Amino acid sequence: MPRRHYRVTDSTNARLRTLAARAVPHGTVVTADEQTAGRGRQGRTWVSPPGSALLCSVLIRRLTDSPLLPLAVPVAVCEAIEAVAPVRCAVKWPNDVWIDGRKVCGVLIEARPGEGWAAAGIGVNLDPEALDPGLGERATAVGHGVGRERLLGVLLTALQRRVAPGATEAVLAAFAERDGLRGREVRWHGGSGTAAGIDDNGRLRVETGETITNINAGEVHLVAQE
Ligand code: BTN
Repeated sequence: MPRRHYRVTDSTNARLRTLAARAVPHGTVVTADEQTAGRGRQGRTWVSPPGSALLCSVLIRRLTDSPLLPLAVPVAVCEAIEAVAPVRCAVKWPNDVWIDGRKVCGVLIEARPGEGWAAAGIGVNLDPEALDPGLGERATAVGHGVGRERLLGVLLTALQRRVAPGATEAVLAAFAERDGLRGREVRWHGGSGTAAGIDDNGRLRVETGETITNINAGEVHLVAQE
């Protein structure tokens, strides 16, 4: 697949967006050693010391009707990390990846359905020494000497499999095996309850007493309670 690597850039998602407008093919990858304006979800920034993380964005042109793209990407990240390191990963709905309940990877999907593409931006912490101490127990890294190129290679293969037409059922099953929130108490701006898996549209199911509420990723900010 075509790949463009930057030593320093603003954001790999921003670079990929420019490339998407120039009709580069499905699967085009942008990587960077360092980002000066890394983007996170909900308008947050994403900061990684130079060379300490896999920072990549992958162009998806074969968009399907499936609402599960935001889940397929972290599932693929889990599979890739587990293929190169002796760790077990979980997905914290909607699309963070955890090792032992700590965030190792964030995913930012920026979609332009009208133009028929989406950028899957993926940041995976690799070097435990480079983690910001201010993040405390909330963050972790793959460690085990895993390098960027090795992880990227297996990740692209895993993405090809999980982000494919017809992968919906398999993604739901793979997510269920790695659902880091299931059974945990969660709260959002509308209430609180127990996470109980996801529905076929990728919405989080939360049990609140006798009722089940289905929550969209865009409209809530969940906090897992310890
Ligand atoms: C989050 O957890 O808030 C999502 C973080 C996504 C970060 C990655 S790093 C590579 C790509 N480029 C960006 O600007 N953001 C994503």
